[in-house]
Amino acid sequence: TLPIRIAPSILAADFAKLGQEVRDVTEAGADWIHLDVMDGHFVPNISYGPDVIKALRPHTTAFFDCHLMITPADPYLEAFAKAGCDGITVHAESGPHLHRSLQTIRNLGKKVGVTLNPATPLSVIENVLDDIDLILIMSVNPGFGGQKFIPAMVDKIAAAKAMIGARPIELEVDGGITAETIGAATAAGANVFVAGSAVFQGNGVESYRQRIDALRSAAG
Ligand code: DX5
Ligand code: ZN
Repeated sequence: TLPIRIAPSILAADFAKLGQEVRDVTEAGADWIHLDVMDGHFVPNISYGPDVIKALRPHTTAFFDCHLMITPADPYLEAFAKAGCDGITVHAESGPHLHRSLQTIRNLGKKVGVTLNPATPLSVIENVLDDIDLILIMSVNPGFGGQKFIPAMVDKIAAAKAMIGARPIELEVDGGITAETIGAATAAGANVFVAGSAVFQGNGVESYRQRIDALRSAAG
């Protein structure tokens, strides 16, 4: 079984000192750094792009878990790979050619992820299960940090876990993860947990460490 991983999203960090934030959260025990890329088109918010990720790359050796909320995604996959992303996750809803996007990420030598909005059924990925390394279940509607976990996503996580079967696919959850909600997601079979506000409402290494530790112990 895959290890529990806590992936702080720097969407909730202080953008005026992102390099420091990435160093601090790494020192505090983050397993992965979650990078939320938003285009103001696929989602109603704009965050940052490959140049920011490239600038952050020297600040940590942690896995860069890039979540692309952009459409189209294909023209930008190479730029995100070159910027230093280790894994690239695209939305199944972001274009008509999901299989092509996944192959492109694979050919760039990166871990291949696919994500589903809360209303999107798991059936859209049943034919690509052998082409992916990670499934990301959105437990809020993408676009903003600080939203409430949608309880119906617990059953979806369990169904995704069953669908994965014996494949070595990471099962990640994103949105509204706190010490209160993480337990249900773990019990349903998820092993990677994105946490934006739950980590970055703190300030500095020690408070990030406490928050990451609290999530990890609540995950069980
Ligand atoms: C939402 C993003 C999330 C977000 C999570 O579109 O994909 O990664 O930053 O933030 P919290 O943990 O505050 O719900
Ligand atoms: Zn995300």
